Amino acid sequence: MGVFHCPFGCPYYEDEGCIDCGLCTAETEEEMVEASKKVRAYLKEHAIQGKSIQKIAVCGKGGTGKSTMVTLMAQALTKLNYSVLVMDTDESNPGLYRFLDFEKTPKPLSTLMSRFSYKGQPEEGTDWIMLPEIKVSDIPPEFIPSQNGIKFLMVGKIEDPFQGCACEMSDVSRGLVLRLKLAENEIILIDTEAGIESFGRGVERSVDMVLSVVEPAFEAMALAEKIIYMAEGMGINRAGAVLNKVPSENIKEKMIAELKARNVQTLGTIHFDPKVQEAGFEGRPPINSKAAEEVEGITKLLMNIVQQTT
Ligand SMILES: Nc1ncnc2c1ncn2[C@@H]1O[C@H](COP(=O)(O)OP(=O)(O)O)[C@@H](O)[C@H]1O
Ligand code: SF4
Ligand SMILES: [Mg+2]
Repeated sequence: MGVFHCPFGCPYYEDEGCIDCGLCTAETEEEMVEASKKVRAYLKEHAIQGKSIQKIAVCGKGGTGKSTMVTLMAQALTKLNYSVLVMDTDESNPGLYRFLDFEKTPKPLSTLMSRFSYKGQPEEGTDWIMLPEIKVSDIPPEFIPSQNGIKFLMVGKIEDPFQGCACEMSDVSRGLVLRLKLAENEIILIDTEAGIESFGRGVERSVDMVLSVVEPAFEAMALAEKIIYMAEGMGINRAGAVLNKVPSENIKEKMIAELKARNVQTLGTIHFDPKVQEAGFEGRPPINSKAAEEVEGITKLLMNIVQQTT
């Protein structure tokens, strides 16, 4: 299968879990389209999202404000008495820990990788990552520091040239998110890498909601359309856009209309906020800002909507 990523995580064709969709054996564009249809239909039918919202992926084009949204939403959720776990799956940008006001980064999960073998036995002390269900309390403290009601996990960063691709890191993210067994008041917020590569690798497969952060730019809106299409194809029916860096009501209305034409529902708006920009420049938490208040409003609304519909 080479570098192909089976949507069901099968190492090889016809291995356990293979649904014979034909994606990995497709030789023409038509065969690939047909196989993709089979995958979408299967995933829709076998959706694994929970009834309540406990796993949220924040996605979007680079620089739109994903990490800002994750940080402010994490704070808003702690105010609603949730125990929040932020998971940094972005293999490039290093600064989320500073937004979250942690002194240093956690030990990256990528350090487990050489032991992350399907065939071999895990080494002592690393077997928690292989558990069929992983509770937050199973994760050793060095991987999951905690502060002000927020716990922080980091998959890892590409640090050196020739280090290889980040596929294995995505496998760790996907496996952990899928098998994470959260208590009733726990929520995981996943800060994804820019673009749609994480969808190609299936990281969002088991999330309950996908938020696509969109700034006023054609590329950001076009990407949001793709993200929502992909999320729905994975069987995630709670997916929508959060507008960010919005400079005026006129632009807001235009963005909502453009996204609607692309079948994307707008779930909330964060205006351009010089205080957030300043905090971003200095690499410190974007708190005490108008944007923080707006994210609090959006978070309350999202959690209320969910409670009412479950
Ligand atoms: N509402 C906003 N107003 C002003 N600047 C913002 C806003 N949201 C994000 N930014 C700034 O935009 C930059 C990119 O934000 P970030 O959250 O790091 O994006 P991403 O994680 O999507 O790459 C940062 O410098 C951040 O401070
Ligand atoms: S046929 Fe589909 S399910 Fe089976 S290994 Fe290939 S991509 Fe995966
Ligand atoms: Mg980021």
